[in-house]
Amino acid sequence: MAKEQWGICAEANLHGLHLFFNAHDGYEPVIREALSQLPSIFNELNEQFSEAMFSGVVAIGASFWDELYPDHKPEGLKSFPAMNHEERYMPAVPVDLYVQLRSDRQDVNYIASRRITALFGEMIELIEQVPCFRYLDGRDLTGFVDGTENPKGRKRREVALIQDGVFAGGSFLHVQRYRHHLARWERVPTEEQELIIGRTKIDDIEMSKDDMPEFSHVKHASMKDDEGQSMELMRQSMPYGNLNEQGLLFVAYCANPNNFERILYNMVYGSDEGTYDHLLNYTTAETGAAFFAPSVDFLVNQGVVH
Ligand code: HEM
Repeated sequence: MAKEQWGICAEANLHGLHLFFNAHDGYEPVIREALSQLPSIFNELNEQFSEAMFSGVVAIGASFWDELYPDHKPEGLKSFPAMNHEERYMPAVPVDLYVQLRSDRQDVNYIASRRITALFGEMIELIEQVPCFRYLDGRDLTGFVDGTENPKGRKRREVALIQDGVFAGGSFLHVQRYRHHLARWERVPTEEQELIIGRTKIDDIEMSKDDMPEFSHVKHASMKDDEGQSMELMRQSMPYGNLNEQGLLFVAYCANPNNFERILYNMVYGSDEGTYDHLLNYTTAETGAAFFAPSVDFLVNQGVVH
């Protein structure tokens, strides 16, 4: 199989820096060329700072894809599925390029970000940068461990990466920046918070079927497809925040373009009256974008001027 971008399935790190760019018109051929160099820059940084476990991913926005690579399109790649129901709003804020930089050293992520802006120069414009950090033992700022039910070992690649065809090694990606209402959340007693998530807080144990309420996050997020298979995602979310605002940068990779949308729909609309995901009473999505992270081989081959 074509070589995937290593950061898609890499284990969690201490620091993340997430960059969102728009491309200026008319630069497509030079952007393709610059993108073809990125995997070797990521490799170089990984070797130079080996103890920092650096990894990078670059992904192309769903609408920008057609302009950048008009000859081939991953089947099922489409813009972010914006949703709006009652008080629950999932906005779409499309961007052209997303870069995920992660490592155990903030300075290494910073160095990587400078290399990227130097490489692309005036071709692209920075729209947003979100520095993220590991919180305690891999917890979201709600205080609950995030990522426990992520696929493990070999399963990570199966869930995240397309297995065959031109786009083998590539991955569908959805990113949302959620802003938490922590003051409101912190007024909720722990036992009630646990019902909202569907797991215990300190020990991170999933509630039994009988104890798990219909409105819990885990109940809405663990779905089965029409063949009875679990609809999994490879989540690489990380907390961000300062004293003014706090939240989660939600990042999910998948070999299948539909899992994310099906789960998000279930969270927002629920199956019956009143059974939407009550975690959404305490957090608001402020952005949302869909991307495709192609394999290293694809990026490199497309950079060659034919
Ligand atoms: C602010 C937003 C969110 C927070 C704070 C959050 C937090 C959590 C937590 C604490 C868990 C339980 C531990 C774990 O297995 O990771 C979890 C599970 C999960 N979440 Fe979220 N989540 C958020 C948004 C989302 C979204 C938008 C999706 C997908 C559309 C999603 C999909 C999942 C999945 C698939 C699981 C695993 C369920 C299982 O199989 O048990 N989450 N999330």
